Amino acid sequence: MNYTIKSGNKIIGSLSVPGDKSISHRALMLGAIAKGETQIINLSSGRDVVATWNCLAQLGIKIEKKNNRTHVHGKGLYGLISPKKILNAENSGTTMRLLSGILAGQPFESTITGDNSLKKRPMTRIIQPLTLMGAKIESNNGKAPLKIKGGKLKGIKYKSPIASAQVKSSLLLAGLYASGKTSVEEPFQSRDHTERMLSHFGVTVKKNNLKIEINGPAEFMASSINVPGDISSAAFFMVAASIVPGSKILIPGVGINPTRRSIIDVLKKMGAKIKEENKGEENLEPTADITVESSQLRSIKISGAVIPGIIDEIPILAVAATQAEGETIIRDARELRFKESDRIKTVTKNLRKMGAKLEELDDGFIIPGPQKLKGAVVESFGDHRIAIAFSIAGLIAEGETTIRETECVEISFPGFFETLTKLL
Ligand code: S3P
Repeated sequence: MNYTIKSGNKIIGSLSVPGDKSISHRALMLGAIAKGETQIINLSSGRDVVATWNCLAQLGIKIEKKNNRTHVHGKGLYGLISPKKILNAENSGTTMRLLSGILAGQPFESTITGDNSLKKRPMTRIIQPLTLMGAKIESNNGKAPLKIKGGKLKGIKYKSPIASAQVKSSLLLAGLYASGKTSVEEPFQSRDHTERMLSHFGVTVKKNNLKIEINGPAEFMASSINVPGDISSAAFFMVAASIVPGSKILIPGVGINPTRRSIIDVLKKMGAKIKEENKGEENLEPTADITVESSQLRSIKISGAVIPGIIDEIPILAVAATQAEGETIIRDARELRFKESDRIKTVTKNLRKMGAKLEELDDGFIIPGPQKLKGAVVESFGDHRIAIAFSIAGLIAEGETTIRETECVEISFPGFFETLTKLL
């Protein structure tokens, strides 16, 4: 399905974004291995989260949705059953990497695979440490499918070479099954939803700077979770409202976890008019209502420790950068090359197709601005964040922009186009 958008309309009104994808995956997984029924409000209905749901169902977990509440009938750490079929994480790196941590703790063998994009993404980053803990994992040269023979795990001290919440979370989940201490230290702070949710479920999690430690085996009881709105989905509209003159929007109940909120801080530094009101907290996750009004943006330079906290928002930040005064430089973001698409390449290709000038770096971009974008036919590359970012780019491009193969928006933001249309 292609989507065509014209420029010339401001965006005005209130919108809601889906439940946070990262938190939704974790709520289902922790709910499944908790003892008793966990109720989740506002679970994301995105396809990635459905992939986690389906994998857990194959592992014998009953999950049902009644109205906006999802009921996960958790069976405790040792209640999962051997799946009859190969587990399919589809497009979801979080499903594959986090679930592998749980599978590593199981006494049975299971195989997990994914779609063509996921089968190209690096899995050595979890295979290696999970193997050190005692799991036996066969792979296709460090890529999916992964055949995991779990069993008796022992805790390890792991110093991760990359700041990845998926790696950290995979090891912490395996650590729930391991005997003794499991600690993970990362070079920069990555999103900490797993740590927060484990604490919420009553598991003791020790944090010392960039080192997280848990003590296993650690059984825990069911809980209830209210999933905040996904800041990564809200980010598209924060940028849209900032760059389309005359716009003003309200997005209630967005998660503003300190390890995820960098897009707000970076946009504010760029001169965006963003307000956070009615601050609250749900299951140790801070939230706020966010309002954004259009303003002239200025360029920014970002690198190092800020990058993990804004990694999923860089495609839309690159679009914003084309409208900012001055040269925006984004470095230390080589991880973008290992996402659902090589996002350094796919962003560069699409921006160039829209007539923008920019330099592609091995680990980021140099984007001068402000530049006029021209309507064009661009590709989604099967990547939800690229499809959505370039739909927003279409709002400010001269003439018409067509984004090809937009089915992938369902991965993180079902109803994105309807939401956008209502604001125009
Ligand atoms: C995620 C972590 C990030 C992020 C991904 C979701 C998570 O990946 O890009 O969209 O839920 O843990 P990495 O941890 O691999 O950087």
